[in-house]
Amino acid sequence: MADAKPITLATLRGHKRARRRFPVVTAYDATFARLAEEAGIEVVLVGDSVGNVCLGHRSTVPVTMADMVHHTAAVARGVTRALVIADLPYMSYATPEQAFANAAALMQAGAQVVKLEGGDWLAPTVRGLAERGVPVCGHLGLTPQSVDKFGGYRVQGRDAESARRLLADAEALVAAGADLLVLECVPRALAAEITQRLPVPVIGIGAGPATDAQVLVLYDLLGISPKIPSFARDFLAEAGTVRGALQRYAQAVREGSFPGPEHGFD
Ligand code: KIV
Repeated sequence: MADAKPITLATLRGHKRARRRFPVVTAYDATFARLAEEAGIEVVLVGDSVGNVCLGHRSTVPVTMADMVHHTAAVARGVTRALVIADLPYMSYATPEQAFANAAALMQAGAQVVKLEGGDWLAPTVRGLAERGVPVCGHLGLTPQSVDKFGGYRVQGRDAESARRLLADAEALVAAGADLLVLECVPRALAAEITQRLPVPVIGIGAGPATDAQVLVLYDLLGISPKIPSFARDFLAEAGTVRGALQRYAQAVREGSFPGPEHGFD
């Protein structure tokens, strides 16, 4: 892929327009980022899931900006053309000013997009980032930084009122300038409706087959997380090698065989 063109937001918007589903995977270091790119995965997410899967934390809450800058820089060094999205960690965007300073640190570490969790209350922050030229990915549904408020890792948007709220949040983020949206653990019909209504690419995880793209935590798709979520699939068990697992995941997303009916919620 070294001589191919870099992946940009325009590439991803083109995929949405052409209804070409695309795979996304998390990565936390240079080697796995390189392997993902070599497997044809165009977008890598330096998720704050680094806290759970690499650092041994119980949730993403303890993850710091120093952690995210360190891992983002490593991932960015591992790729030549993949688009790198990095998470703003817990409480690093509690005010717009904090968000601007911390987004700058992630962008300078090598991210090309920053991701943050939350709904319409974040619109002024997203607008400010967009005005300052920082690409933004929203994250709605099961937002892991709020796990203690939710009282556990639960599917969101199941009743009519919370579904209406999620759709309104998604529209508010996009109206403020968000370029991408992650939808995590929401019913497949709601994910389908949000994907169809939004002009920007929607990346699903535990959100059924209708989103424009899919993301999985790398260690879940390799089957090595201590607890594999029901919406994930062990591609390493199927393929036998890490490279094969990443290629198989990418192909399954592109051809629409992952996620299957068993990987979503009603
Ligand atoms: O941190 C992460 O890995 C994420 C994905 C679950 C979307 O935000």
